[in-house]
Amino acid sequence: MSIDRLRRFIGDMTSLVGGAWQDRDEAATLEVGAKLLGELVLHDDWLPEQAAKVPSHGYAQNLLWCDPFERFCVVSFVWAPGAVTPVHDHQMWGMVGMLRGSETSLAFKPDAETGALKAGTLTELKPGDVELLVPADGDIHQVTNALTDRGSISIHVYGGNIGAVRRHTFDVKTGEPKLFVSGYTNKEQPNIWDRSAETRAAS
Ligand code: FE2
Repeated sequence: MSIDRLRRFIGDMTSLVGGAWQDRDEAATLEVGAKLLGELVLHDDWLPEQAAKVPSHGYAQNLLWCDPFERFCVVSFVWAPGAVTPVHDHQMWGMVGMLRGSETSLAFKPDAETGALKAGTLTELKPGDVELLVPADGDIHQVTNALTDRGSISIHVYGGNIGAVRRHTFDVKTGEPKLFVSGYTNKEQPNIWDRSAETRAAS
């Protein structure tokens, strides 16, 4: 178990948002970012215990890192068995990488005439898979832990400080949006900077 993978991922993402994303090139940011996240979630040996604790119900949103300029953040979503989110949007780009277990994401689009939300594509994520959320293409969805007998964990990366922005949940029947600010479950972030063991080993 090593947090090195997370520290390297944060470094790579910081380079990316200083380049492609600074140029407002969302497609390039997501293309490269998805590869980086895909590599991160291919290995399940780095997420600290405290950010992987399965809640008794619902889901925990643990902030692992927020860029100092709030250009991106990294969050571990830990799902109780069968947990379901409300139908919601994000107000920024997002990437969801499956680390442990499995989840489903059901996309919704407003009906042009009635405004009601209609269910669309159902995406199932397995460990190593990455799903992209692009507001311009429609990013309203509902996420469910596909497993009913144990927890699941996905690693989310967003193009901002997702827990602190105004976004929406929706009434599916009417399409009516309701403002919400999700916040974060944890009060403390993991320490990615204690590299003393490798320094000692090298001396
Ligand atoms: Fe979402």
